[in-house]
Amino acid sequence: MRDWDVERLAAAAGARVVRADARPGGPERVTIDSRDAGPGALFVGLGGKRAHGGEFAVEALAAGAWGVLTDPEHALAAARDGAPELDGSAAETVGARAGAAPAGAILAADDPLAALQRLATAWRRQLDARVIAVTGSTGKTSTKDLLLAILSPHRRTVASRANFNTEIGLPLEILATPAGTEVLILEMGMRGAGQIAELAVIAEPDVGIIVSVGPVHLELMGSVEAIAAAKAELIAALPAGGTAIVPAGEPLLAPHLRDDVATVTFGPGGDVQLRAETPDHVEIDAGGTSVRLELDFSQAHLRHDLLAAVAGALAVGVTPGGRVQLQLTPGRGQRSAAGGGVTLLDDCYNANPMSMRAALDELARVAGRTGARRVAVLGDMLELGPDAAAFHAEIGAYAAERADLLVTVGPLAAEMAAAYGGQHRHAADAAAAAQLVPGVLAAGDVVLVKGSRGVALEQVCRAVVAGTPRSPVR
Ligand SMILES: Nc1ncnc2c1ncn2[C@@H]1O[C@H](COP(=O)(O)OP(=O)(O)O)[C@@H](O)[C@H]1O
Ligand SMILES: [Mg+2]
Repeated sequence: MRDWDVERLAAAAGARVVRADARPGGPERVTIDSRDAGPGALFVGLGGKRAHGGEFAVEALAAGAWGVLTDPEHALAAARDGAPELDGSAAETVGARAGAAPAGAILAADDPLAALQRLATAWRRQLDARVIAVTGSTGKTSTKDLLLAILSPHRRTVASRANFNTEIGLPLEILATPAGTEVLILEMGMRGAGQIAELAVIAEPDVGIIVSVGPVHLELMGSVEAIAAAKAELIAALPAGGTAIVPAGEPLLAPHLRDDVATVTFGPGGDVQLRAETPDHVEIDAGGTSVRLELDFSQAHLRHDLLAAVAGALAVGVTPGGRVQLQLTPGRGQRSAAGGGVTLLDDCYNANPMSMRAALDELARVAGRTGARRVAVLGDMLELGPDAAAFHAEIGAYAAERADLLVTVGPLAAEMAAAYGGQHRHAADAAAAAQLVPGVLAAGDVVLVKGSRGVALEQVCRAVVAGTPRSPVR
């Protein structure tokens, strides 16, 4: 936005100029955190639960910000600051006043978040990049990371940071995208109907990927059909001639497919599917195009996500090839050597029935290569609604074939034990598990640690890495 002057920026945001800035050019970046509002920044003061960001407008200007955008009340207060003789309306009409608040533009919008979102859309249009949106119940961040890995050698590619996937994070990521970017990959999260539609209005994606549909946020959404419909808002938002990328044979999405967008299916039986694989490479058949990739990862679920990513790359005209160097976002199943000769699978970031199964498969696969003992430390899967106990029992049964020792963490996870049937320990919460787990591990074990975000199993991972039992010796 460096070449946008204050008038242009205000028009794009649907905001009023309370005070123009004397300096030429526009902001280099946008932030909603006043502590980050140094030179070159446009600080957007959003309404918050505790405080209104607009209260920090003067502070942002004092820190050298290019300007501030907030609601009229705080914008006028900022313009008045240092010029107390002006009342609000006078400040608005008088405009710039030497010696008033610290230098910088001041913009007002009744709904600053909507203004931020409009600004993001304007920047997205100016960017002239192809935009790929990624949503789904599980695997969004992994697919985004894979897309970045396979596109980067071919196109100037930018991907949103993990979980900047909301009505606030997504516009910020768009606004952080540098001019000259050719492909922009945006993760879209949702916790209710209408949210993906809202994000798509902001991002105007050319390509929409739905990685998976499953029982995640079931408590909020009511049914998997409702979840599918919410994900499918991304398909509905595509322009005619856009590309929708969906799992092959997913009946839940069938009612939402469109004739006027290209639909590409991935996975077994789909348009993009695995033809052959070894531990370090895959050959993918993509509707007659053959794609060979060398991989530094072997998790089956990531190979599934890779098919979606390959479909996305092809949709923007890139035929990927060569080596894929995947930089996994932390907590997504990274394998590491922990203390005491233990191998840790750190999947503590989150959990739901789909990703629990994938992680247990991975535990069995990794341990199976050496015949190591398989230890699964599984925490509660939250937000599953009235059938939560049944979902946990299903995972217990699934673990029976894939783990030699099950440690459950939390009251819901306790429901896994009966269906599991094997050797089992229980911890009431993550702190208790951090005490318990190191003491039950032996050299050579492979241990998976996974649970919902709210269970915060990272302290168990830390205890495993440290490798010494935390509990007093009995
Ligand atoms: N296709 C998939 N199927 C099942 N589980 C998956 C899949 N892709 C990733 N996962 C698992 O889900 C967890 C969360 O993955 P992530 O890519 O961060 O998803 P999201 O961004 O949708 O929350 C990972 O740790 C991994 O265990
Ligand atoms: Mg994510």
